[in-house]
Amino acid sequence: MQYSEQCCYPRPRMEVKVEVVLPEKDREKEELSPNGKASPLAYKANGTTRHYHHEERPIVLNPYTNPKDMVEASVCHVKDLENGQMREVDLGCGKALLIKQNGEYYAMGHKCPHYGAPLVKGVLSRGRVRCPWHGACFNIATGDIEDFPGLDGLPKFQVKIEKERVYIRASKQALQSQRRTKVMAKCIALSNYSTAITNILIIGAGPAGLVCAETLRQEGFSDRIVMCTSEKYLPYDRSKLSKSMDSQAEQILLRSKEFFHMYDIEVLTETQVINVDTKNKTVVFKDGFRMEYNKLLIATGSTPKTLTCKGKELDNVFTIRTPEDANRVVKLASNRNVVIVGASFLGKRCNCFFCLYLKEVVLKSGKVLRADACVIGIGRIAALNMLAQGTEINTIPYLWTAMFGKSIRYAGNGDGFDDVIIQGDIEELKFVAFYTRNDEVIAVASMNYDPIVSKVAEVMASGKSIRKRDVETGDVSWLTGKGS
Ligand SMILES: Cc1cc2nc3c(=O)[nH]c(=O)nc-3n(C[C@H](O)[C@H](O)[C@H](O)COP(=O)(O)OP(=O)(O)OC[C@H]3O[C@@H](n4cnc5c(N)ncnc54)[C@H](O)[C@@H]3O)c2cc1C
Ligand code: FES
Repeated sequence: MQYSEQCCYPRPRMEVKVEVVLPEKDREKEELSPNGKASPLAYKANGTTRHYHHEERPIVLNPYTNPKDMVEASVCHVKDLENGQMREVDLGCGKALLIKQNGEYYAMGHKCPHYGAPLVKGVLSRGRVRCPWHGACFNIATGDIEDFPGLDGLPKFQVKIEKERVYIRASKQALQSQRRTKVMAKCIALSNYSTAITNILIIGAGPAGLVCAETLRQEGFSDRIVMCTSEKYLPYDRSKLSKSMDSQAEQILLRSKEFFHMYDIEVLTETQVINVDTKNKTVVFKDGFRMEYNKLLIATGSTPKTLTCKGKELDNVFTIRTPEDANRVVKLASNRNVVIVGASFLGKRCNCFFCLYLKEVVLKSGKVLRADACVIGIGRIAALNMLAQGTEINTIPYLWTAMFGKSIRYAGNGDGFDDVIIQGDIEELKFVAFYTRNDEVIAVASMNYDPIVSKVAEVMASGKSIRKRDVETGDVSWLTGKGS
């Protein structure tokens, strides 16, 4: 077992003191309410069930602590915004997203902290805004992220109405950063622990494992959390590997090594679990080391589907999963022929990256393709959300990709579809495809048709169904229109 160079923790000495800290619901009231009523700062320095450390404070964007950092501006007339509308407004030193829903005004960051999408082009519904690009959802009252991808929430700002004008008061720093990392607890058991015992063990350091660890800390959990990964790196954004295949892991990390130190989230790299004994709550690593846990999350993602045909064992046949895989393909494929097996999203993405090169792949039809590097690209589905124990999981699968500079978005689960209704113009690369089963829309894909996929995802997440006849008419403006 290797302790990550980036995130080192000492070897075993003493037994760990196990203390589970219960979540405290009533927190993060650091800002004024949307309608301008002040509520006091509510950080508890050290309550009976919650343990924050002073070091965590600097990264919390609390816009109301430093008056010099504040800016206030009149942004519009009350009549400029209808219920269910959003507008980007400029405060002079940065923009905010102003929202009106059910007669209340809300203001928060305008740019999605994931890849920077303009949220004004997203979908406002049921007290949250869904990003038009990859479907992340933000609560309009708190700015918190409620559905993934992405890790951070948005800063929220104070709104007041005076003489029929809407005013926003915001921190300049928050306007610049456009993101907010939630307040998190730290571990209080570290000085007296054994590496052979942990309270929480997370197998897998992908986004699912990372979100689990962060959510525990956000909920005030102050005991030991250990994540382990068979790879060499801290959690990184695997989805970037098929778009920029020459990426190094350090360039695509989801969090910095300082972040893991700050919140005492231990990451054991190159640590493969080979056995899990749930009866005795123990795992065994490849090097024979055993670790006891109190609670376990298995977030190991999925493995690429490999070829079963002749030639699968050749050196120039790859699957892409790690930075090394992607880098190797780039190195081998430069100015050569490449065959991509698997016409899913991933396969097609890689397609944009290569030009074809040497040797042969024989298709079942007898047709011969010449290739040296063969990439088996099978798309993957979103990770199981293991954070919602005790809470109903209500998330809609959302996938995206970019091909030749055009983005394709997909939401739902099209497994077993029996028809596809296409609206728009495929030739012009501006279309939406509804996948239906029986009389119901079960998935949607689009190109240049934002925010339709987010809108469909939002309708599906609300529990409503979309009938086939609703999308057959050609008029899908009821789906593309913004608002609730
Ligand atoms: C090349 C590529 C491109 C992609 N592009 C997109 C995209 O554009 N859009 C999209 O929506 N999704 C995309 N995906 C899918 C996306 O990356 C996954 O959905 C996401 O990474 C899943 O996260 P996860 O945390 O569940 O698992 P993973 O990110 O797969 O992480 C699994 C973790 O488990 C660890 N692990 C596995 N087995 C063990 C073990 N026995 N012991 C210890 N550790 C173990 C691994 O080392 C890793 O740290 C892409 C995937 C790939 C491979
Ligand atoms: S840019 Fe918003 S979810 Fe990706």
